[in-house]
Amino acid sequence: MAKWQAERVTQALRFAAVAHTGQQVPGTDLPYLLHLTQVMSEVAAALQLEPADDGELSLLCAVLHDCVEDTEVTVEEVASRFGDAVAAGVAALSKDPSLPKAERMADSLRRIRDEPMAVWKVKLADRITNLQRPPAHWSRDKATRYRQEAQQILDALGDASPRLAHRLRQKIDAYGALLPTS
Ligand code: NI
Repeated sequence: MAKWQAERVTQALRFAAVAHTGQQVPGTDLPYLLHLTQVMSEVAAALQLEPADDGELSLLCAVLHDCVEDTEVTVEEVASRFGDAVAAGVAALSKDPSLPKAERMADSLRRIRDEPMAVWKVKLADRITNLQRPPAHWSRDKATRYRQEAQQILDALGDASPRLAHRLRQKIDAYGALLPTS
């Protein structure tokens, strides 16, 4: 099992719980912290099978991966609380809002690939977690694009973890049956 300090991860969970206060998992009444803990548990399960010295970096980035993109928290604040490596990982996992929407994913994937594979794992785990039944208001086109984007993530980052790559491939396959009919 990869070594990581429960104290650091629970501090990050508390930090994220405060930062995301009032936010829900899209399309539900459930607290956003659920998404973050689901991503963290995907990463933790992979670390059991594929121990890594930087497992703590993966877990911290999993818990904090949306706090810069979706809250007032800054990269500098993450750096001062959790260190430069975690802050760099979270920054790479955050889409750049100054770019046109269509370019944001490819840009983020390029920046993630400049980080250690511990960070790549978080993006794989994030999309594994998000490939659930599409919201009712999504068109078939939108859901199809989301599935293609998942394939793009798998192609770019799958080398970081055979376990997570396998999980994501299964989710992409299963998502085909969940596509809206129109
Ligand atoms: Ni996420």
